[in-house]
Amino acid sequence: MKLKGWKNNKDSEEDKLLNEINAILPSNIDWKKGAKAYLRQLVEKKGEHNIRYHLIKPFLGGPDFNPFFIDFYNFLNIVQKLDLEMKSRVIDVGCGSGWLAYYLGKMGHTTLGIDISEELIELARKRVESDPYPPFIEFDWKVSFMVCDLEESTPRVDEPFDAAIFESVLHHFYNPIAVLRNVSSILKPEGVIAISEGHMPEKNTSNFKENLELMRTYGTIERPFTRKQLKQILSIAGFNHFQFYNPVNGLFTQNHRIAERVYRTIVTDNYFNIVLASRSETAFRKYVQQEKDYDMLESGIHIVTGCYERETSPEGKIYRWSGPECRLRTENVKRFDLVLSSHCPHYTHQPQCIRIFIDNSPYQTIDFDEEKSTLSLDIALNSSSCIIDIVSENCFSPKWYQQMDSRLLSFMIGCEHIKLFK
Ligand SMILES: C[S@@+](CC[C@H](N)C(=O)[O-])C[C@H]1O[C@@H](n2cnc3c(N)ncnc32)[C@H](O)[C@@H]1O
Repeated sequence: MKLKGWKNNKDSEEDKLLNEINAILPSNIDWKKGAKAYLRQLVEKKGEHNIRYHLIKPFLGGPDFNPFFIDFYNFLNIVQKLDLEMKSRVIDVGCGSGWLAYYLGKMGHTTLGIDISEELIELARKRVESDPYPPFIEFDWKVSFMVCDLEESTPRVDEPFDAAIFESVLHHFYNPIAVLRNVSSILKPEGVIAISEGHMPEKNTSNFKENLELMRTYGTIERPFTRKQLKQILSIAGFNHFQFYNPVNGLFTQNHRIAERVYRTIVTDNYFNIVLASRSETAFRKYVQQEKDYDMLESGIHIVTGCYERETSPEGKIYRWSGPECRLRTENVKRFDLVLSSHCPHYTHQPQCIRIFIDNSPYQTIDFDEEKSTLSLDIALNSSSCIIDIVSENCFSPKWYQQMDSRLLSFMIGCEHIKLFK
């Protein structure tokens, strides 16, 4: 298949990548026809209720609520991360029946949903028109929809947009780079895009086979990307500043084992490709900055659980108060000075025993009393990522001593002289 305006220079990085990502597509399928006729085909094959499903999406009303949770969590996570100003201008790319455009409109944003399918756009319009309750900060909806093939053309708009969201969309395009370019031309230079979709499954797994089957049945492209491919797609399209995320949602009991599971989900799971990207480094810095401020004791030493906000001592040292247990995780740290101190023996008039564990093995026991309540430990680590638990049975609350502060405090931790693995 050859797309209009797509130069066929076999050696260009873009063409090599397009050949790579499209190699698994079944041949002799008219993908545009499939995308335009998807809803009709679905109704013919699976029944009329699919119209209703598209109108109430993402509220499946299942027996299986999982897809609803995933869609809604991902949407909320992205909206929270984008941190849009009130009344921003947002594009819902490949909007389908328009649920993202609708909810963004409810939040008071001006939204434009774009899709190749006239039938889906008709449902999207119906969804908004049939809701008599516009957002409370406006007297009217500012949600509109447009039929457009985003691979072939740039939509005509009066004003550029602040952000574009691609929910389960990018993997449907034969040439995702062309789509990113077309969308980027109606974004402000400091505009941000958010992409949220599944990661390419391993070859010959049931998910992989299911995607092939769907492509043959409906003539729609179901070909997710590997993380590496998506990074290349973004770079070639000029979105050189990006940050990938892993979602963790739900309610968690406050214990280390659960925290450990959450930690592993964040660092090892790769079911999703969720990414924020921009062409402008300055515009993007705010997202990366948010990340960097995320509970770090020091560069390379993350706080998993247990510590309160950072404070600065009168001598200018940065430290954190911890409750009776805290857990740190190091990344690429070879050696560091861990500074431990405590006011606990002064308040409780009891000795305080603090135990340190590295990767679940006892590392050191420290005894503090009213005479000696500070210590600097030189900790050398064997592997580039370690879990460090610091545990004490004693604690106190300033509130017990008629102060306003109701935290439960046990010891203070800080770091100095950190050496990184190279
Ligand atoms: C899986 S659906 C996702 C729809 C919507 N974002 C949602 O979450 O419900 C993918 C959408 O991409 C649209 N699409 C596919 N090719 C397109 C193209 N060339 N231009 C615009 N939209 C396209 C499809 O019509 C479909 O609505």
